[in-house]
Amino acid sequence: MPRKRAATAISQFYFGEVATADMCKRIGAHVSVGSARDFLETQSLDEERHAKIYLRYLRKLGGLGPLSSAVEHSYATALSWKGAPEAIILAFHVILEGEALRLQQDVDMWLPCPLFREVSTVIARDEARHIAFGKIYLREILPTLPLRERLDIYVWLKHLWYESALSVASRMAPPGMFIGRRRLSVWLARKWRERLGDLTSAGLIGDEELHRFETI
Ligand SMILES: [Fe+2]
Ligand SMILES: [Fe+2]
Repeated sequence: MPRKRAATAISQFYFGEVATADMCKRIGAHVSVGSARDFLETQSLDEERHAKIYLRYLRKLGGLGPLSSAVEHSYATALSWKGAPEAIILAFHVILEGEALRLQQDVDMWLPCPLFREVSTVIARDEARHIAFGKIYLREILPTLPLRERLDIYVWLKHLWYESALSVASRMAPPGMFIGRRRLSVWLARKWRERLGDLTSAGLIGDEELHRFETI
């Protein structure tokens, strides 16, 4: 991977860390469970530390690149939910952190750099803990929300995922991976089904809800 391209991709991880740290601070006050508030406070410190690590690494590649408008839009959309803060936790902890972790593994594969591998391993360990917290917390809290609100959240989440995945796939995918829109839309549909499977197996969508959600 050319150095400039690597710097641009890794810069998006830096911006993601900054956005996630900001989200933890913003929604912490709106979460009613004390232990979850404590976790979010610690998580914001983790994310700030990750941002600093990425920045130090980026200095070796020539400095921080520009924020991609697609990444900016995804994080702004994830923060824009006006209802229960659990929707924002679902968007950040399960969807965006999950995708960032997958992309981090991809970059790890494309970029044969032992230092990046070390950075990536340390950060991935924390991210796995954040994702696990999101799943455990949401499994308890989501069922307490009215069914209508949960369905609204899933529909919003699906739009957020499709929009983000489409812009990342069309801008960052290896050349020739998607020839024509049909192939891209088949790929997106398959990937969304996988994400839906993850949400179901994590106990975040029940069978009855899944059925209703798919018929909306
Ligand atoms: Fe992080
Ligand atoms: Fe995280």
